Amino acid sequence: MASIKKRDVVRLILGERFGRMPVKFCSTAYAPANIALCKYWGKRNEELNLPITASLSVSLGALGTTTKVCLSTVARDEVILNDQPVPVRSKFTKALSTYLNLFRPSPTVFFRIETRNTVPTAAGMASSASGFAALVFALDDLFGWGLSKRHQSILARLGSGSACRSVYEGFVEWEAGADEDGMDSYAVPVPGVWPELRIGVLTISEDQKPISSREAMKRTRRTSSFYEAWPVKVAHDLELIKSAIDARDFELLGRTAESNALAMHATGLAAWPPVLFWYPQSVAVMHDIWALRDAGLPLYFTMDAGPNVKLLFAADNEKDVLAAFPAVTLVAPFAEKRFGPLGAAAPTGC
Ligand code: PMV
Repeated sequence: MASIKKRDVVRLILGERFGRMPVKFCSTAYAPANIALCKYWGKRNEELNLPITASLSVSLGALGTTTKVCLSTVARDEVILNDQPVPVRSKFTKALSTYLNLFRPSPTVFFRIETRNTVPTAAGMASSASGFAALVFALDDLFGWGLSKRHQSILARLGSGSACRSVYEGFVEWEAGADEDGMDSYAVPVPGVWPELRIGVLTISEDQKPISSREAMKRTRRTSSFYEAWPVKVAHDLELIKSAIDARDFELLGRTAESNALAMHATGLAAWPPVLFWYPQSVAVMHDIWALRDAGLPLYFTMDAGPNVKLLFAADNEKDVLAAFPAVTLVAPFAEKRFGPLGAAAPTGC
């Protein structure tokens, strides 16, 4: 059987709406960034970004991406990122155009994408998750598809795996699913609001990653003898994190998230060629965190496919954390005014 392509999934989701023209000239939408407490690391299907395991994240409220999609008046896609036009031949524009091809009603229809990150670029936080989720919200409105959250999540996943979690605020689980076409692999909200939870982003470097998360996952899955332990670890950690959320047990949440991130990075160390995202300064920060913890400060960390460190702590300890790490970008994922009741639709226009 021929392998299923992204476009087949889009066709399945849009049904008779597939190939129809937009009903509006422009549409704007917002989606939050997210940080995984239990990571997505390894794909069972590279084309559709289908994961080996489930994962669980927290969305970052007002830190995210606002994207305006319009029909272009010139005969090519135009991309404007944080007010700066992005060159047509850049990797960024090419990746966006390839994604837009999935929805283009005819080869002569082009889009103008204006995207703005409230995630500070200097904080070195990935904006692809919020970027693809905001783009899906905006396209849904532009074309008048009226998609469910489940379908929005699946379309965002086709752009970047972790983007499927950015269609919700709060705690979010991405269910791995088992279907070949990935129609059962999408994000769902995890009940629980935790207003005291804080995340601190520590930028170690803004350098371009030497290896993309896509490539790193692929290599790790294929060559790391530690990888077979990863799904077992995830199954256990997911349960612990959910019970930590239920019980508002910060120590359990922090400990599990930190251990999960370290295990993810350990699978990369055992890959060949090795995958190591840490810089000496990342390791120095880990030692600082462990020393502060030994001294009684409930402070934990998580790290993604890069050298930057994300601190996890509770509001009570904000002052101590800021004193130890003055350069930290502070995020209060649940303290945002915009944060509504769980499961409420993410804002799709502004
Ligand atoms: O969605 P991607 O392809 O950018 O991969 C994200 C991978 C991690 O950030 C390391 C983990 C995660 O669950 O977000």
